[in-house]
Amino acid sequence: MEKSEIIELLKGNPAETGLFKKADEVRKKYVGDDIYLRGLIEFSNICHRNCLYCGLRRDNKIIHRYLMSDDEIFEAAVLAKKLGYTSIVLQSGEPLSFNIKKFLELLKRIKNETGLIITLSMGELEKEYYLLLKEAGASRYLMRFETSDRNLYSYLKPDSKYEKRFECLSWLRELGFEVGSGIMVGLPGQSVESIADDIMLFDKLKIDMIGIGPFISNPETPLKNFNNNNFELAIKTLAVTRIVCPKSNIPATSAMEALDDNGREKALMAGANVIMPNITPYNFKDKYILYPGKSIFDDPYEYSVYLKNLIEKLGRKWGKGPGNSRVKEGL
Ligand code: 5AD
Ligand code: SF4
Repeated sequence: MEKSEIIELLKGNPAETGLFKKADEVRKKYVGDDIYLRGLIEFSNICHRNCLYCGLRRDNKIIHRYLMSDDEIFEAAVLAKKLGYTSIVLQSGEPLSFNIKKFLELLKRIKNETGLIITLSMGELEKEYYLLLKEAGASRYLMRFETSDRNLYSYLKPDSKYEKRFECLSWLRELGFEVGSGIMVGLPGQSVESIADDIMLFDKLKIDMIGIGPFISNPETPLKNFNNNNFELAIKTLAVTRIVCPKSNIPATSAMEALDDNGREKALMAGANVIMPNITPYNFKDKYILYPGKSIFDDPYEYSVYLKNLIEKLGRKWGKGPGNSRVKEGL
């Protein structure tokens, strides 16, 4: 698609452009009816960065910081297995230092004893570390570039480097990870043109899993006064992304649900084919607040039942296989 067409769809009224219907057709044709469930474990909220939009930023002194113990993380992985999920996502802030040896042992233990596919989402690390994590059993890595607009990126992430982010993504690719990335939609100063660039970049970088969510203003951050009215544009962005990147995995993100009670369902009907239900133990989950409105009360088991029913209601299937990237496999 030309950039001008992308912009037109992003600006247009979906009822008139037929965007969601088209995206749903493309989804069905290229990735089928299966919806893959991946258990999200937020194992630490410790972060040394100071991103302007995020509740885990280091200047937010009101949150209690935690690191789950190895056994707690392992038990959460076992729960994912019990719930029938084939994959887990281990997510954290970016710690300045962490005990990598211990973490590698934990990954090996999870891999050996559960056989789950391990996805990591723990930010920018040195290439050697990525290699060690891969060797210990992780095979997928999620790291959003957030926006392709260099100036906006530097404003939002004052202590991060734009080039470094993309270098990390290319290392991950080189090391054989399935690479996930993504953006927030509705960031202060973000134009529709810039979102079109983001979408074209997903395609250029052959991103295996593309996470798109609305920016939600967090009262504990410097962006507390910005508007939150970003659901509509976020879902349009998701739909256009499905059309431009037909084979990618695209999750119906929690941020969609945070802004709209039926947000996940709407995303699943506009191109999404993955859900990452949160299975972090309750006493930690309430401290992992990137943005307000996150559902922290769902019992993991009850939520899995709710999702099963939702999937059925939509006439789709619960994907029991690994849900490997079709981009990577060139299918
Ligand atoms: N609103 C929406 N998404 C956010 N994230 C962080 N803070 C916010 C916010 N205020 C997203 C970022 C990050 C992902 C884990 O959560 O895109 O990469
Ligand atoms: Fe830390 Fe990531 Fe939040 Fe930035 S977005 S403050 S790196 S957890």
